[in-house]
Amino acid sequence: MTLLGIDLGTTAVKALLINESGDTLASATVEYPLSTPRPLWSEQDPADWWRGTTAAIRQVLAKAGVSGRDVRGIGLSGQMHGLTLLDRAGNVLRPAILWNDQRTAAQCDEIVRRAGGPMRTRELIANIPSPSYTAPKILWVREHEPDVYARIAHILLPKDYIRYKLSGAFATEVGDATGMALLDVRHRRWSDEMLALLDIPRKWLPLCAESHEPTAQVSDAAARETGLAAGTPIVGGSGDQPAAAVGLGSVREGIVNVTLGTSGVVFASVEHYPPIRDTAIEVFCHAVPETWFFMGVMLSAGGSLRWHRDVVANGHPGLVAQRDGIEPYDALLSSAAEAPIGAEGLIFLPYLTGERTPHRDSLARGAFVGLTLRHTQAHLARAVIEGISFGLRDSIELMRELGLHVNEVRAAGGGARSAIWRQMLADIFQADITLVNSTEGGAFGVALLAGVGIGLWRDTREACDAVIRVTSRTSPSDDPTVLRRYDEAYARFRELYPALKPIFARLER
Ligand code: XUL
Repeated sequence: MTLLGIDLGTTAVKALLINESGDTLASATVEYPLSTPRPLWSEQDPADWWRGTTAAIRQVLAKAGVSGRDVRGIGLSGQMHGLTLLDRAGNVLRPAILWNDQRTAAQCDEIVRRAGGPMRTRELIANIPSPSYTAPKILWVREHEPDVYARIAHILLPKDYIRYKLSGAFATEVGDATGMALLDVRHRRWSDEMLALLDIPRKWLPLCAESHEPTAQVSDAAARETGLAAGTPIVGGSGDQPAAAVGLGSVREGIVNVTLGTSGVVFASVEHYPPIRDTAIEVFCHAVPETWFFMGVMLSAGGSLRWHRDVVANGHPGLVAQRDGIEPYDALLSSAAEAPIGAEGLIFLPYLTGERTPHRDSLARGAFVGLTLRHTQAHLARAVIEGISFGLRDSIELMRELGLHVNEVRAAGGGARSAIWRQMLADIFQADITLVNSTEGGAFGVALLAGVGIGLWRDTREACDAVIRVTSRTSPSDDPTVLRRYDEAYARFRELYPALKPIFARLER
């Protein structure tokens, strides 16, 4: 028997088949376009999602040589927050407005105002909505496209549109629902109060389940389109971040995971709903019942390193790679290791595309501060990698302030492959950095949730314990001067953003 995980990303959809031991049988990825009809806008056609998903499912079944009847459960994951609007007949009313669309700053303020201020907003829905979130997009459509608004009968998140196409059912789950800004995150149910304050009818919202719970079954029509068997159960699943965390086994308090992709995400499970605080850390429902997670998002982590490689390191792209004949990032990282900790007073701020955590500031900018004639390419590379790592430590420190004890940090994403970077992270976070055997991300996580939903494992922790193993562990240096020198450099890094913030704002003008 096999389990199918589907991850509907921003650029592509991935379908993954695993067996009951958690081994990957095959995966298939199909890309689709993203449109930017105006600056700061970001939209996709849900028809492209569905076309991509049916193709990916057909391809993965063919690659694995598995018949649709062998697939016993399906889990859905995907880009979070996106707004998909349907009319009474289930037709899409306008292109979906995505998580990275920036048009709704005014509507975010409006939500906080209607709720009665930031603390009351947090009491109702846990987080201060950012333009990523869904509710401000709904208000934007009401203000700017009243004809569309008048025809709304259903509101769905991206992966839940795929559930609808697979089954005809309108359902979501608590993780992705948190990112709508309409969920009472503490009690894991829709917030009637927030819905009333925003004047959004509750009947537009889908049923909201826990992540492992069966929510729907493949319909006859979808069975014909995908090759799956009619009646196959589809569990709740989760948004891409919590689904990826399940895929890393990050389902217990004390285990944190850090994903070093273009963005950098710090994610931590928490087993008690945290006290309401004015913090840049976001609080969401996790894919395990009665647990939540903290999340900090750095917008340019690997993105800063790529910029450095392409623009700063030896002037133009690829030169470092040509010189050393090895991966350009490896060359940068080994060159960084030649410079001393703290890069002799050179500090890099990684806010190349603004920042989300810890500084919610779209005007924040990157900077090299402290350059002298002594500084070499090695110092520049070291400063960039330290700056990214310090920015991630900011999220970890904010989580520690909220009471989190960090026992282990599981690293994932491209940057995690570097042993040099893992050692730096261990020294900077003062925690063990581990790698695990699973690298398939959110699609793998929701395939495990599907296994829980059909009773293959008792719960999500048991599923993770059964299939996920730590394969490498990097501990902080036992030389106290190493840790002290990182701490000193980190203290200087922390002073820079507040000092430069007013200047960043003026640069924008
Ligand atoms: C989560 C978030 C992203 C999107 C797209 O809050 O904004 O992870 O889900 O990947």
